[in-house]
Amino acid sequence: MSDSANPSLEELRWDYHVNTLRREDLAPDPLNQFKKWFEEALAAEIREPNAMTLSTIGLDGYPTSRTVLMKDYTDDGVTFFTNYESRKGRELEANPVASVLFFWKDLERQTLIRGKVERLAAEESTRYFLSRPYDSRIGAWASKQSEEIPNRGWLDERVEKFETEFPDSGSEENVPRPEFWGGYLLIPEFVEFWQGQPGRKHDRFEYRRNEGEWSARRLSP
Ligand SMILES: Cc1cc2nc3c(=O)[nH]c(=O)nc-3n(C[C@H](O)[C@H](O)[C@H](O)COP(=O)(O)O)c2cc1C
Repeated sequence: MSDSANPSLEELRWDYHVNTLRREDLAPDPLNQFKKWFEEALAAEIREPNAMTLSTIGLDGYPTSRTVLMKDYTDDGVTFFTNYESRKGRELEANPVASVLFFWKDLERQTLIRGKVERLAAEESTRYFLSRPYDSRIGAWASKQSEEIPNRGWLDERVEKFETEFPDSGSEENVPRPEFWGGYLLIPEFVEFWQGQPGRKHDRFEYRRNEGEWSARRLSP
């Protein structure tokens, strides 16, 4: 079913044309290529360019995806923070591999990073936790992330309970980091950069690491 105000999904498509990605444009390693694209996403004022789809493997073998925010990227990889007892936390403890996917729509770009995942050092998680706003720190204590709860009131009461326990004194030290909350580092093994092109002739390059050396190969779209 379609009309001009409501096109059918079959007709909904976009012809990509704003950029290209050629071999001569590629940085020698994917982290520098990522840095270039991420800085361009920031410059393009894409909202939350650090939002990424994190996929993990469930204990039942099913994949699960959800959005998380990248909080840093270095030569070692990309970091994000979460509740270690959440579904993703439990899945990552059992099977410490993941992928993250960025879609920078206005630039017609997608970047996929796959690799092994490690917990960040406790001091690193604490440093970031203490930099977060008071409400976010209380929220981390209040939420039993991924567990069933009876109603919204349950969450409001938990927030009040922790606001009483850790009153807002204006100091960043007033709400300590819960042990069940912290960061992960995703260490890239495969990194793919996808640039949309007209006529579905998209540019794709995949970097792989072999004995410490990165090499890139072009993939068919
Ligand atoms: C834009 C956006 C950013 C998010 N950032 C985070 C984040 O950084 N960390 C986090 O734990 N959850 C984040 N969430 C919530 C997750 O998508 C997810 O609902 C939650 O972590 C529970 O996932 P799980 O049950 O699979 O563990 C974000 C959601 C959205 C839409």
